[in-house]
Amino acid sequence: MQKKRIRKAVLPVAGLGTRFLPATKALPKEMLTIVDRPIIQYVVDEARAAGIEHIVFVTGRNKHVIEDHFDIAYELEDTLRSRDKKAALKLLEAIRPAPGTTSFTRQQEPLGLGHAIWCARDIIGDEPFAILLPDMLMKSERGCLSEMVEIYNETGNNVISVEAVPEDQTHNYGIVEIEGEQTARTFSITGMVEKPAPGTAPTNLFINGRYILQPRIFDLLGTQETGAGGEIQLTDAMLALMGETAFTGFRFEGETYDCGSKSGFLAANIAFALEDQTLAAELRPLLAELLKA
Ligand code: UTP
Repeated sequence: MQKKRIRKAVLPVAGLGTRFLPATKALPKEMLTIVDRPIIQYVVDEARAAGIEHIVFVTGRNKHVIEDHFDIAYELEDTLRSRDKKAALKLLEAIRPAPGTTSFTRQQEPLGLGHAIWCARDIIGDEPFAILLPDMLMKSERGCLSEMVEIYNETGNNVISVEAVPEDQTHNYGIVEIEGEQTARTFSITGMVEKPAPGTAPTNLFINGRYILQPRIFDLLGTQETGAGGEIQLTDAMLALMGETAFTGFRFEGETYDCGSKSGFLAANIAFALEDQTLAAELRPLLAELLKA
């Protein structure tokens, strides 16, 4: 049977971002800035680089600025034009998705990640699709999702990106159980457990926020009772899907910054700033000075 292409991606952005209050009282967490662009922009760029043609944002109240960010800003662009600010205009044009290539649907209540994904079911339809958690920011030569799409194209399987964490941190993450060599680029995933008790994790490989899943996941999410924390969990539905179709794990070799946490967000800012030669030259002595203490 011919494999369907991965054309669409879901970006769930309906969470409350409570760890960043009061910053996130009026501003969505996804619009917090890493150097000079909002976090969400990096993730959309990663999706586009992987060949994604349509992005579905699952939003909530207070999130309309995300929609504005990916639209034309008439007054601003008009003013830039009249002032002949070509470089700034070009920058804005480059980040704007083509008409008809984004959808916005609301998750009326933040009932969990699984529920947010389920809200995109009609827009995705009957085709395999990608999920990118927008607070997980990846830094690598090739985009994480690009590599995953390649693996999907070879196998037709569900594909989950994972990354090693120190053993004493596994209880903070969704951890996979695998068959095959843990250090290999790809392997079969045979199970997964959300935040295992210390010392009980089957591996030290955590799910780092990038997924390619079959549309069957929507049926499984739809029948699901609320799980841990009163939320509809994506992990539970993936476990059910695992009983039906194969899951391949992809070991991501770049760096992932959890921008949902303050330390991850700050580390991402420094790491991405140091990528810019001009900025790095100014920043290095400042950082050295601060670290002296
Ligand atoms: P998180 O639990 O990390 O995000 O969910 P949060 O709830 O916004 O943050 P805190 O814990 O209160 O600080 C991971 C991703 O899933 C989305 C979030 O927007 C985030 O991108 N999400 C989570 C939803 O879209 N809906 C939900 O009900 C829960």
